[in-house]
Amino acid sequence: MAGEMSILGSAILALLLAGYFGQQYLPPPKPKVIGLDLGTTFCSVGVFHAGTGDVEVIGDQEGRKSIPSVVSFTATDIHAGYEGQELADSNPHNTIYDAKRFIGKIFEPEGLEEESSRYQFKVLYNNGSAEFLVSTNRTFTVSPEFISFQLLRKMKKMAEKHLGVVVEKAVISVPAEFDERQRNYTIKAARLAGLEILRVINEPTAAAMAYGLHKVDVSNVLVVDLGGGTLDVSLLNKQGGMFLTRAMAGNNKLGGQDFSQRLLRHTMERIQQEHGTPPTRKEDIHRLRQAVEAAKLNLTFEPSVMLRIPLHLETGEDPEPSKPVVFEERITRELFEELNADLFQKILVPVERVLAEGHLDKEEVDEIVLVGGSTRIPRVRQLISEYFSKDPNTSVDPDLAVVTGVAIQAGIMGGSWPLQVSAIEVPNKHLRKTNFS
Ligand SMILES: *[C@@H]1O[C@H](CO)[C@@H](O)[C@H](O)[C@H]1NC(C)=O
Ligand SMILES: *[C@@H]1O[C@H](CO)[C@@H](O)[C@H](O)[C@H]1NC(C)=O
Ligand SMILES: *[C@@H]1O[C@H](CO)[C@@H](O)[C@H](O)[C@H]1NC(C)=O
Ligand SMILES: *[C@@H]1O[C@H](CO)[C@@H](O)[C@H](O)[C@H]1NC(C)=O
Ligand SMILES: *[C@@H]1O[C@H](CO)[C@@H](O)[C@H](O)[C@H]1NC(C)=O
Repeated sequence: MAGEMSILGSAILALLLAGYFGQQYLPPPKPKVIGLDLGTTFCSVGVFHAGTGDVEVIGDQEGRKSIPSVVSFTATDIHAGYEGQELADSNPHNTIYDAKRFIGKIFEPEGLEEESSRYQFKVLYNNGSAEFLVSTNRTFTVSPEFISFQLLRKMKKMAEKHLGVVVEKAVISVPAEFDERQRNYTIKAARLAGLEILRVINEPTAAAMAYGLHKVDVSNVLVVDLGGGTLDVSLLNKQGGMFLTRAMAGNNKLGGQDFSQRLLRHTMERIQQEHGTPPTRKEDIHRLRQAVEAAKLNLTFEPSVMLRIPLHLETGEDPEPSKPVVFEERITRELFEELNADLFQKILVPVERVLAEGHLDKEEVDEIVLVGGSTRIPRVRQLISEYFSKDPNTSVDPDLAVVTGVAIQAGIMGGSWPLQVSAIEVPNKHLRKTNFS
């Protein structure tokens, strides 16, 4: 009996040892927790690989690392991401985007009416909350969290397909200004998608973590997030392993769209000067918009770009009511900066505000983190560098900084990173975001 016991004991010991040594040579375990950036216009999902210590942002079937935050309803199906966006033109009334601007928020009926006028889809008031009207072969309403649920489910599937395992746990980021209700509704959307949210972290905190700022000796971090339509500036203060948001300010009517709009207006004026008539046809304006957007992006890398746009101008003359022309003009970076000089300058207003609210001199800011596609614009970087006499942190793709940080937090929560502090946040109920639009 005793002999049997000791044989059994040795066997168990051998197994344990084999397990212990085996662990050092086996491939590292698959990540169990995913990091989600549920953005207003784009969403991304990432994981932390314990083996290599790298964050991987997971692409869709075409390798795109973000999907549009768009959900389109048809009679037969619900299409999220790029599929949804592709339906936007043909199915505009049932294609919902910007749902994040509505989730968990309490509205007055008049406020929602105003919001609704900005969109092709209908936003309805229901007992303080927003709902979207969908009318395919039947008519119904969906909540903002239902839209988020569709996007989160899509990202869960992308992660599962890529990792080859079932994913049930996640960390998610939200804007620093989100209150408890907005956070709860975001968690609710994730729960619908079959995801347990282990932690909700603020987007600026995530961006700071993407640069490893939770591991280094810094106390004050300024995060500037300049997207397509909004600017958010946050001042973070780190004490030990804890990030506190000390102040927030922004401008919810300033972003990349406005910079494109200035360039579009300039182009229209040039066409008018050259041909005596502005473009009026819908297709022409659409083509102009696209060309201007592409030119804006190119000007980040090139000192100048050539616009070459075929148009049909309505001359109104009888024999030739529409005249085909090709509009050509070289746009320099200098011109783009001139056209937007006053808008770029506005970026510093909330920056100054958070410093004042945080009782901090600009010299006391240890690191500056840039988030959002529009922070790629050279003049924007230059303005911030000049203001602080210091270069901002830009090595992480500004569109993926938030998801990178959330994935790091997911790695910490998943236990892949035993010795690291995690970004505990102190909730700040008293903080309010000042808006300068
Ligand atoms: C709507 O159309 C789909 C596909 O044609 C069909 O399966 C579904 O039953 C229809 N629903 C209603 C309420 O008519
Ligand atoms: C309306 O909202 C209030 C507060 O959120 C809630 O107490 C009430 O039950 C809601 N009424 C209906 C009819 O849903
Ligand atoms: C948010 O959820 C928590 C936990 O479920 C709950 O205790 C709290 O009352 C909720 N807060 C709001 C504002 O909905
Ligand atoms: C921008 O760059 C891309 C790739 O380099 C090029 O295909 C495109 O024509 C450029 N657009 C403009 C407006 O210069
Ligand atoms: C960016 O962040 C890192 C911390 O990870 C820091 O060491 C570096 O100096 C920062 N600044 C710039 C301009 O890259």
